[in-house]
Amino acid sequence: MTPRFLGPFLFTATLSLSVIFWAPRPSAAQSGQPSRARLINGYEPSWWKEAVVYQIYPRSFQDSNGDGIGDLKGINSRLDYLQKLGVNVIWLSPHYDSPNADNGYDIRDYRKVMTEFGTMADFDEMLAGIKKRHMRLIVDLVVNHTSDEHRWFVESRESKDNPYRDYYFWRPGKVGPDGKMQPPNNYMSVFSGSAWQFDPATNEYYLHYFAVKQPDLNWDNPRVRKEVFDIMRFWLDKGVDGFRMDVIPFISKQPGLPDLTPEQKDAGAVWANGPHRDEYLQEMNREVLSKYDDMSVGEAAGITLGQEPMLVDDRRHELNEIFNFDAVRINRAGKHYVSWALSQFKAIYTEHDRVLGKHDWDTVFLSNHDNPRLVSSFGDDSEQFRVPSAKLLETLLMTMRGTPYIYQGDELGMTNYPFKSMDEFNDIEALNGYRDEVQGQHTVTEEAYIENLRHMSRDNSRTPMQWDDSPNAGFTSGSKPWLAVNPNYKAINAAQAVADPDSIYNYTARLIALRAKTPALIYGDYKDLDPQHAHIFVYLRTLGNEKYLVVHNFSSEPIAYKLPAGLKAGKTVMGNYGGDESATATLHLKGWESRIYKQ
Ligand code: NOJ
Repeated sequence: MTPRFLGPFLFTATLSLSVIFWAPRPSAAQSGQPSRARLINGYEPSWWKEAVVYQIYPRSFQDSNGDGIGDLKGINSRLDYLQKLGVNVIWLSPHYDSPNADNGYDIRDYRKVMTEFGTMADFDEMLAGIKKRHMRLIVDLVVNHTSDEHRWFVESRESKDNPYRDYYFWRPGKVGPDGKMQPPNNYMSVFSGSAWQFDPATNEYYLHYFAVKQPDLNWDNPRVRKEVFDIMRFWLDKGVDGFRMDVIPFISKQPGLPDLTPEQKDAGAVWANGPHRDEYLQEMNREVLSKYDDMSVGEAAGITLGQEPMLVDDRRHELNEIFNFDAVRINRAGKHYVSWALSQFKAIYTEHDRVLGKHDWDTVFLSNHDNPRLVSSFGDDSEQFRVPSAKLLETLLMTMRGTPYIYQGDELGMTNYPFKSMDEFNDIEALNGYRDEVQGQHTVTEEAYIENLRHMSRDNSRTPMQWDDSPNAGFTSGSKPWLAVNPNYKAINAAQAVADPDSIYNYTARLIALRAKTPALIYGDYKDLDPQHAHIFVYLRTLGNEKYLVVHNFSSEPIAYKLPAGLKAGKTVMGNYGGDESATATLHLKGWESRIYKQ
């Protein structure tokens, strides 16, 4: 059995646009209950609600020293590009010292920068550069597990009475019916095989939900929690503005670690619902988060939409927002690519709107370093429709309820990689799965496995940023990037996009600017006007008298679309084809056309 990963995605003139002015303000958690007078449409305003976040996967962003691996100096050299795009917050995927079993999500030293990425001085310089440009930085907090090379684990595995033994989960094996030693329970790792690794030094197994080199931390040990809180303070005191928290609901384990029952098919759901999850998050909030003007966004592996308010309702003092994977993973069943219908997709947003109230806040994202490219998954990456469909998707992200997240390169319409053979992959998930399913159990042929990876592999989004049409797309001056550059970089690159006023990049910049000055797109109510239509996604965002109508044609066919309920489209604000068809009840939409109207 393989567990499903991650559930395996003012309206008065007095609105304070804190995104623009960045005046430090106490968070809701700091200030206790918000005063009613400050509320906008019932929401407590805050900079992280008004922000647009841009995710950097540092290994693939920009190399500055020719070793083929992106680094912090490289990021520093590209900050103007991000400032011009208009994003307010950068989320940096792990930059810490790591042996890279899982590209930095296995941390060896939380207070040291990964050697390949540079030094702490480079980090400080990058952070200063970000602040100078009026942006903020959140860093990845990966504390469900460490690297097996972390000092705590090295100590822990030494002996049963080592003071660090209880920082991790160690258990004796069980004797199976055949008299052979078996792991303590039937948990399977997200990256294939048992979630337990036998360690001959002490004749016990340790728990690892992810790779063998990612042992799980024991949060039930108060010393572990204190260590984590100290690490958080270290980075916040340096000036970072918060954290994206890796698989954070997994921190509280099931008491006694019993076997999963046959009914418990979704291991993620069991792992995410340990009895102390909320207690530990509240402790983290009390001890650390509430003391800073920060933002926290949790990766909500295993959490259903219905459970979300438990983590993000501001009266509970846990996290600000979480990533829910319902939309981003609509195209997969387990690890397999499946087709999806627009009506299902729309229903997800309606359900989010229903479940998340005025005390909650949502995230809007359709890609990241664990998912394939935005335009290849949700748009049409053919030559004809790549640009309009990528623009449509950016329009969706910037007009939906919640904080939008852009993954690096999606603002260029970067596409999935045309993988042909297994030696082109780097990701441990793809490689372990191959060993297990193709070579071990023979449940799938190599061809079918690669075909599925072409749609699903995490490496699709990890190929280097395409900066220009020079060799290796300007990502590295070295001869070999750590992962191959997508061969389409001559046509799809940042130099071209920045220079072309009509590019996806410049269109996205205009969208971000529009969102920043349009409270209705941030705090407004949401209503899907035509939930059943197979190709059209049309909705209203309303704040007092301000009303915006957004319409997308999610198909390559032109559609003459009559607006429902006697509505007429108002005044064109923006559109990805630039047409102007205002004050009309029937819209003539081209393939993948997207428009925003002010009603
Ligand atoms: C989720 C991260 O996003 C992913 O990249 C990583 O492999 C796992 N957590 C384990 O840390």
